[in-house]
Amino acid sequence: MRLLGIDLGTGGTRVLLVDERGRVLSSASAEHAPMRSPQIGWAEQEPLDWWRAACEAVPQCLQQGRTSAREIDAIGLTGQMHGLVLLDAAGDVLRPSIIWCDQRTQKQCKEITENVGARKLIEFTANPALTGFTLPKIWWVRENEPEVWKRVRGVLLPKDYLRFRLTGSKATDVADASGTLLLDVRGRKWSAEMLEVSRINESLLPQVFESQEITGAVSEEGARATGLRAGIPVVAGAGDQAAGAVGMGIVRPGAVSVTIGTSGVVFAATADPVIEPLGRIHTFCHALPGRWHVMGVTQGAGLSLRWFRDQFGTGKEDSPDAYDNLTREAAATPPGADGLLWAPYLMGERTPYLDPLARAALVGITAQHTRGHIIRAILEGVAFSMRDSLTIFANLGVPIASIRLGGGGARSELWRQIQADVYGRTVEMIAADEGGAYGAALLAGVGIGMWSDVEAACDMAVRVAFAVQPRAECGALMNRQYAEYRKLYPALKQISTVV
Ligand code: XUL
Repeated sequence: MRLLGIDLGTGGTRVLLVDERGRVLSSASAEHAPMRSPQIGWAEQEPLDWWRAACEAVPQCLQQGRTSAREIDAIGLTGQMHGLVLLDAAGDVLRPSIIWCDQRTQKQCKEITENVGARKLIEFTANPALTGFTLPKIWWVRENEPEVWKRVRGVLLPKDYLRFRLTGSKATDVADASGTLLLDVRGRKWSAEMLEVSRINESLLPQVFESQEITGAVSEEGARATGLRAGIPVVAGAGDQAAGAVGMGIVRPGAVSVTIGTSGVVFAATADPVIEPLGRIHTFCHALPGRWHVMGVTQGAGLSLRWFRDQFGTGKEDSPDAYDNLTREAAATPPGADGLLWAPYLMGERTPYLDPLARAALVGITAQHTRGHIIRAILEGVAFSMRDSLTIFANLGVPIASIRLGGGGARSELWRQIQADVYGRTVEMIAADEGGAYGAALLAGVGIGMWSDVEAACDMAVRVAFAVQPRAECGALMNRQYAEYRKLYPALKQISTVV
């Protein structure tokens, strides 16, 4: 049996072919056109470009896996969350999608919070109004582009636009819908209160499904465009974070992942919706019925190292071992970087400081410090920021039984060790770190009964390859450094960076 997972990322769309044992047979990607930013803080992409990328990557993936479209049994979708896709009565796209990292809606967030009340907002949706979420974007379009809004007959999230083109049905899943600010996260259905306050008719929204439920099948038209067979069932899938967690086996309470990509995400599966009164972590539905998750986000995680590489690199930034060379320099310096500290707030921050204006800093430089010290301070600073999310989870009573590492940050031996030392815990590495597309493929398998449920799929397919132990001799030092790190943000906040 064969499953396809399709992940509509920001940079490109990735397709993964998986068999009934959870083995990856092939993968293919197609890049998206660069994101457009018509004004500072804006971020837009063309839904038709996503569809073009999917139509390229699907046949490539089948070809590489020497698999014909007839052999595909089910498809799962995942992708970047929060983006707004607006369709007219004919199903045509009305304007470019305003995507997850767009920051134009500060005014709308304030209005929503004032209209609903901060407390009630958390009661209805489990989350505060954040600029990246979908509802503030709807308010923005209605206010700034009334002519467009008048013609809107359908509102979709990015991966659900692919579903619409592939199957003709308008559907979404509870995990992705959680990032809209329109979902009753506790009840796992659209929030009647939020629809009423927002004066949005529910008929504009897609039907909400649990992640493993079948939402439709590939249409004749979808088959012609992608080279797939008409009739293949397509399951609801999940937003990229929840699908990525399924792919790493983070499904039972106690399981936690720390994924360092451009941003860094600490993710924990929970038995109930756990709410943080200050809204510093997100509370969303997980991709399994009756499960939720909490998630803390460091905006500038992998980005910190990339920024250093691009600004202070050795001129060989494009070489595949550029990051290995940087971490080798860092490995030659002692844990604690001889007191050097890095606050990673290069792009504002979400957790633990909800502050889009926060700034990064390197503190404590002496003439003895080298490039290697700075790189180590960056790796440690990012790990301290991830520890902040773990600290919030612990304070909320979210169980942390095991920690699995993912993303680029888990590929470096040094960064893995630093994470184990900073968290003071054993960290596990899984055998196949394939991101959200893998989780989407597993959800597709559950949808057609290949596995009895998502937990069974993970138990069968996700394997721990090895674990890294925290070093006893570093524990006290890392705790001391973390205590100093915690003082950085409040101190930096006193300093005006406006010129
Ligand atoms: C989740 C989030 C990102 C985006 C883009 O809240 O903002 O994971 O989905 O990948």
